Amino acid sequence: MSQRGGARLAVVGAGSMGAQIAQQAALSGLSVALQDISEDQLERARRSNRQLLERRVAKGRLDAAYLEAALGRVSLTTDLVQAASGADIVLEAVTERLEAKREIFGRLAAFSKPDAILASNSSTMGVSQLISADCRPERCCNLHFFYPPLVMDLVEVVKGPQTSDETIQRAIRFVRDIGRTPVLVKKEIPGFIVNRILHMATQEAYRLLDSGVASVEDIDTAVEKGLNWPLGPFRLGDLTGLDITYNARQHMYETTGDPRYKPSKQLAAKVAAGELGRKTQQGWYSYPIEVKQ
Ligand SMILES: NC(=O)c1ccc[n+]([C@@H]2O[C@H](COP(=O)([O-])OP(=O)(O)OC[C@H]3O[C@@H](n4cnc5c(N)ncnc54)[C@H](O)[C@@H]3O)[C@@H](O)[C@H]2O)c1
Repeated sequence: MSQRGGARLAVVGAGSMGAQIAQQAALSGLSVALQDISEDQLERARRSNRQLLERRVAKGRLDAAYLEAALGRVSLTTDLVQAASGADIVLEAVTERLEAKREIFGRLAAFSKPDAILASNSSTMGVSQLISADCRPERCCNLHFFYPPLVMDLVEVVKGPQTSDETIQRAIRFVRDIGRTPVLVKKEIPGFIVNRILHMATQEAYRLLDSGVASVEDIDTAVEKGLNWPLGPFRLGDLTGLDITYNARQHMYETTGDPRYKPSKQLAAKVAAGELGRKTQQGWYSYPIEVKQ
């Protein structure tokens, strides 16, 4: 299979992740079919990708004709069979719901090309939870991109218990071909690499807070100036959304049984109070509504 030029990618789900992953691949020359159940969402994806890339053109970082060609390489459809039946790689990036993902993989098993790679972008579900034997597990893996995929360079390539070495080599080549840096996670574990390390470091920050060792502001300042993180754990939580931060910890706690992942009391209280970070103007910090002049 030729991975560049001739390879076809299908992305299932045109939300925050799928839309930009599709566009990133098209910028690298791949033909991409982007599928969603919602026509409105497909249109939003197209508009948002155009806006993001027009900023690059305005800054002189992208040629206008190249932008048009790259947008033209993404075809939009609500028809999963049309999107995925001719694809060499199918990447599932739908809402984080087990049943929805299982149903998609079940359908893909029936009509995808026998040698196509079937991958999931899930942050929390290893591909082995999403497929049945009909899918041929040796060709299935996780490809975990980071938000926003048009900017973030890293992709975790996660080997499921039955994924073949050949699939992993092809998946790594695909990630490189679309201008991204792959890392191989050799065992399917909750949180993969980045989220496990991030959770442990930020959990320690919450423990320091809950036990009265330092304030939110001082822990953020310590981590930003002492460890050179662009954002301390609390500013990062406000940006991500404290509900998402809480749910990710609760999921890790439930799936691993490891008490080190148990969500902090103060984090739980923020979520219960509806103080979810920037999106509600109040989290660990206050974010006044900006009035446009
Ligand atoms: N947002 C992040 O920061 C992030 C980062 C890494 C990985 N992920 C993972 O990526 C996946 C998608 O996340 P997102 O943030 O893009 O979600 P999102 O809610 O922005 O988008 C999900 C899209 O899936 C579509 N969809 C739902 N059911 C479908 C179906 N049956 N067929 C086709 N389309 C369907 C929805 O219409 C929606 O457009 C999740 O598995 C998530 O864990 C998210």
